[in-house]
Amino acid sequence: MSKKSPVSKSPVSRSGRFAGGPAADVAQFTESISFDWRLWKHDIQGSLAHATMLQKIGVLTRSELSAITKGLNQIGREIAAGKFSWKPALEDVHMNIEAELTRRVPAGAKLHTARSRNDQVALDVRLWLRDEITALLGEIAGLQRALVSLGEKNAGVIIPGYTHLQRAQPVYFAHHLLAYVEMLERDCERLWDCHSRVNVCPLGSGAIAGSTLPLQREFVARLLGFVNDGGEVQLTQNSMDGVSDRDFLIEFSAAAALLAIHFSRLAEDVILWAGTEFNFIKIADAYTTGSSLMPQKKNPDIAELARGKTGRVVGNLMALLTLLKGLPMTYNRDLQEDKERVFDTADTVRATTRLLDAMLRNTTVNKAACAAAASDPALLATDLADYLVRKGMPFRQAHHVVGAIVALAEKAGKPLNQVTLAEFQSVDKTFGRDTLGVFDLQRAMAKRNITGAPGTKEVAKQLAKWRERLS
Ligand code: ARG
Repeated sequence: MSKKSPVSKSPVSRSGRFAGGPAADVAQFTESISFDWRLWKHDIQGSLAHATMLQKIGVLTRSELSAITKGLNQIGREIAAGKFSWKPALEDVHMNIEAELTRRVPAGAKLHTARSRNDQVALDVRLWLRDEITALLGEIAGLQRALVSLGEKNAGVIIPGYTHLQRAQPVYFAHHLLAYVEMLERDCERLWDCHSRVNVCPLGSGAIAGSTLPLQREFVARLLGFVNDGGEVQLTQNSMDGVSDRDFLIEFSAAAALLAIHFSRLAEDVILWAGTEFNFIKIADAYTTGSSLMPQKKNPDIAELARGKTGRVVGNLMALLTLLKGLPMTYNRDLQEDKERVFDTADTVRATTRLLDAMLRNTTVNKAACAAAASDPALLATDLADYLVRKGMPFRQAHHVVGAIVALAEKAGKPLNQVTLAEFQSVDKTFGRDTLGVFDLQRAMAKRNITGAPGTKEVAKQLAKWRERLS
């Protein structure tokens, strides 16, 4: 925009009705080209399909279609090469491309027949989001594979599992990692489900009320791949809803927010494990950062930023919900505010997925520290109660008896596995010679073999299942 003139050149949307262009600060306030230019590929994709249909119904001649197609492809090549000059006075990506096409190809003036920027922008965002979701799903699978690999590489490693961040019961390290694989799988299901509602073609809705021209909506939708798994074409069924619906962006943002929440939980575990107090893992130097002051520091910044960026992803969801709230039908310019939020969400979760993947692939496990932590016999206090249950004692009583043993050991200042048989029997006669066998960690792990438990066989089975499913 020119700084000299308070009035910019009249954009195409104002031709005819307006005496001049908008004031410079209005143009600056209303433009979206500074961020929606990134929809260019999908805008051209949509225009090519629309033009093909316009030729089919006789609005364009064959040679006009061919000129428009060539012109759009040429513009696409220039944009890809960074040689296209975007004009803020033309407001958005749609008008920039159309105006430039029309400047080069007279038939370009027919391209907008029976189309409005209202259905055009809805189409572009759906096309863009479809690609983003597909790419994100691939990246999440990569992160799941990284979790499975780290688990496989450390298949025998046992750590304390925590509740209330207090040592609870022993689990395989792999079992802990597989918990995140399960979470991420649900995220993928949500994203894929959302994809089915993104994958619906709004083109033909026009500005609000469709068109009097005999558009072939199915034809355009098929060209653009708006078909479900059964091959049925997916069209929006109400022109007013078609131009004003942004539910699919909110669904995506909500699924992405939950994904980011899962990232932040994983990040928190990683941060704790990498700390000196836990010392369970070591993140490779290339995936950590130093301190500008303290020479000894190695900080888990990737994990911290994964945790921190959750704030903006959740914030973007709130912004979009607030944006839609109370909007009257149908298109309102407010909707232009959707793009920066979803772009930011998609960029943030995709980058975080890739970085967590890379970080975990460059993380090693400190087996000795894990073994030392897992050797705490208190982790097997519940196994001791189960031992009594096997001998016929009601669990509530067993819980009480073991509680008394824990108190006895604490008072004597020794670990549970150093309590003598005589001391065990002083609390309850049910304890037999095999009592201390309960504290054999390997045997204890072998016993946890119901579905979903961290048993030796069960975890191996789960690792193999995920390896196979993610391959
Ligand atoms: N840049 C606009 C947006 O992102 C495109 C649609 C504008 N339509 C209109 N009638 N002003 O929402």
